[in-house]
Amino acid sequence: MKVGIRVNFDLSDDGVSLLVEGHEISRFGICYENGDLHSAIDELNSVKNIQIVGLHGHFSTSLRKVETFRRITEVLCKIAKETNLTNLEYIDVGGGIFGEVPKSLIDNTPSFDEYAEAICSVMNQEFGHYKKRPNLILEPGISMVANTFVFVAKVIGNKKIKDKNFVLVDGSVHNIKPTMHKKNLPMQIVRQSMAKNHSSENFNIVGYTCLEKDYLAHNFNDKIPQINDYIIFENVGAYTIVFNPSFIKEKPAIIANDNNEIFVVRKKETIQQFFNEEIYCF
Ligand SMILES: Cc1ncc(COP(=O)(O)O)c(C=O)c1O
Repeated sequence: MKVGIRVNFDLSDDGVSLLVEGHEISRFGICYENGDLHSAIDELNSVKNIQIVGLHGHFSTSLRKVETFRRITEVLCKIAKETNLTNLEYIDVGGGIFGEVPKSLIDNTPSFDEYAEAICSVMNQEFGHYKKRPNLILEPGISMVANTFVFVAKVIGNKKIKDKNFVLVDGSVHNIKPTMHKKNLPMQIVRQSMAKNHSSENFNIVGYTCLEKDYLAHNFNDKIPQINDYIIFENVGAYTIVFNPSFIKEKPAIIANDNNEIFVVRKKETIQQFFNEEIYCF
């Protein structure tokens, strides 16, 4: 039987963690530093029918730096040598790279070519002279899907609390950024009519749920959207479909646009599906 091992190693930079949300260590994989990885490899090697064919290291870092991927590749190659894994079929450096990110969200993100150059130069240096070189596996997630979806919300109300403007839409922060980060996504406002005298004002866009923190956008400056206008939030393809709680309102439909052919890929959830009688007992 062929097996691959997910490796956990210290990725900190001068003692500073690179991991998302300030995690000091990752909880995934088998630990290199405390010897567990070596023990696991020894144990697997001692079993006749098992062949270790892959080493895997995925880390979710906040800056997604090219250097981090060079380092992950280097450490996986170092471990392969140290543990004498000469029959590796693949090195898997996981996901966690940047895709095409709008400049308004994060400026100056690395290109796919820059990641490729860093990772492949290590792979070529380590395995270039091998007769049978291990394959390189990447597991990009967000970078592939984030910019493939937009979310269209309808304005259903607006009001002022003290001096702050609130625009209420029929969507929720869960539809566009389930991690509830505070950055405004790129968005377009589609207006029914453009009132001539209105000047730009500061407003927040808030969702239909009862959560105080249900903000789809903070401190946005433009002419205030009116009831029945639409707001199109861009770059919402990552995590939004699977991380969408059954909370207060049914899930919206998903519509695809393939070369200007428009079709439904998920129907709007019905109230019967929302209160699914197959699983809830009334
Ligand atoms: C093992 C593994 N591979 C790949 C990914 C995709 O990561 P990303 O979406 O940041 O590219 C994840 C996400 O957490 C993961 O856990």
